[in-house]
Amino acid sequence: MDMLENDGALRPTMAPEVTTTETSYKEHYGRFLSADPERLHFAAHSHHHWPDVTRDAMLRYWDDAAELSDDKWERIFGTEVPSAQRHVADIIGVDHPGQVAFGASTHEFVTRILSGFPGGRPKRVLTTDSEFYSFARQAARLEEEGVVVERVATEPFETFEERFTAAVEKGGHDLVFLSHVFFDSGFVVRGLDAIVEAVPDPETVVVVDGYHSFCAVPFSIRAIQDRVFYTAGGYKYAQSGEALGWLYVPPGCTMRPENTGWFADFSNLKKAQSGVQYPDDAFRFWGATFDPVGVYRFNSVMALWDRIGLDVEKVHDKVQEAQRLFLEKCRADGPLDAGALLLHTDGLERQGHFFTFRTPEAQDLYARLKAAKIMTDVRRDRLRFGFGLYHDRSDVEALFERLERL
Ligand SMILES: Cc1ncc(COP(=O)(O)O)c(C=O)c1O
Repeated sequence: MDMLENDGALRPTMAPEVTTTETSYKEHYGRFLSADPERLHFAAHSHHHWPDVTRDAMLRYWDDAAELSDDKWERIFGTEVPSAQRHVADIIGVDHPGQVAFGASTHEFVTRILSGFPGGRPKRVLTTDSEFYSFARQAARLEEEGVVVERVATEPFETFEERFTAAVEKGGHDLVFLSHVFFDSGFVVRGLDAIVEAVPDPETVVVVDGYHSFCAVPFSIRAIQDRVFYTAGGYKYAQSGEALGWLYVPPGCTMRPENTGWFADFSNLKKAQSGVQYPDDAFRFWGATFDPVGVYRFNSVMALWDRIGLDVEKVHDKVQEAQRLFLEKCRADGPLDAGALLLHTDGLERQGHFFTFRTPEAQDLYARLKAAKIMTDVRRDRLRFGFGLYHDRSDVEALFERLERL
């Protein structure tokens, strides 16, 4: 069955290389995998399975709450938050863990940043046509209020960086906002440093949405750490579930978000104050009381990685192994039409941890796959297959066997 239409997207041509040695990490995902052994979960890019250690972390949080009562916040802010800040800083390659703020979602930080311009909103925004809804919807709403939003098309992908840089160079933007890896294609932006460095006005706020790169694609923003905001969160490749977003704030940032919560001035609560004061570090972007269990979960995942010697490079290699096999099977006249695949190069170097098939039947296919216990996800006309640490070659084989039977 040719499940997907050919719509003229880039076609893969080169035979992929599949390695033979394999390390399996399945044992760390015992609870998610055993909850439904028939389920083939190819939506790791959407909601990654959580390793078993995250369950212990949740219980540990509960126990801390019971044992420490009101004093739990000292544990949270004294131990858990600094540890999570260090992990984020290490993974994105910055020298300032104190510049990482935590909240419930990236949208929380998007709204706070947007409120940080004179008059409570930016006047001119430069972005792309492929931003995730957390930003795209908010930007569209502000547009209705007169904010000028310029959107650079991500396609054709081959020239995206060139076109976006040219738009950046024109200057005059209050805010430049773009994803590192686009959610609707998996395309990895190359030369982020050069794009950020091309912003001519020092007052322009530059934000990168790194949800699809964090803990997935090896990268470092060290070269632009004094200039760029970087946001991501827990429920994809960080494998830590919901209720956890974070924002890296470049040091020296003096924005005074209108949307501000009392945690933003935690250290001064006991002092008499005139006016609304903001701290020098990332706390200026904090909100208010939140559920810290996401921070516990994230720290437990990072502790697991340390214990078993995992890092982003190793995760990336493991995932690419599954991706290569998937591509090989796609190309071998199998049940999926490689012609509908948005593939960005012949290799995988511009590809995030998921593949996107563009077809008008995406919604219907998603439902049929789900009925066959193949979990993917769908965004409008795009069906996405995502890969994670818990996929071995045997899972990709099983996927294609099931697809053949459909
Ligand atoms: C690129 C990108 N950013 C952000 C998010 C999540 O946003 P939020 O934390 O606001 O729910 C997603 C979720 O799919 C995403 O794909």
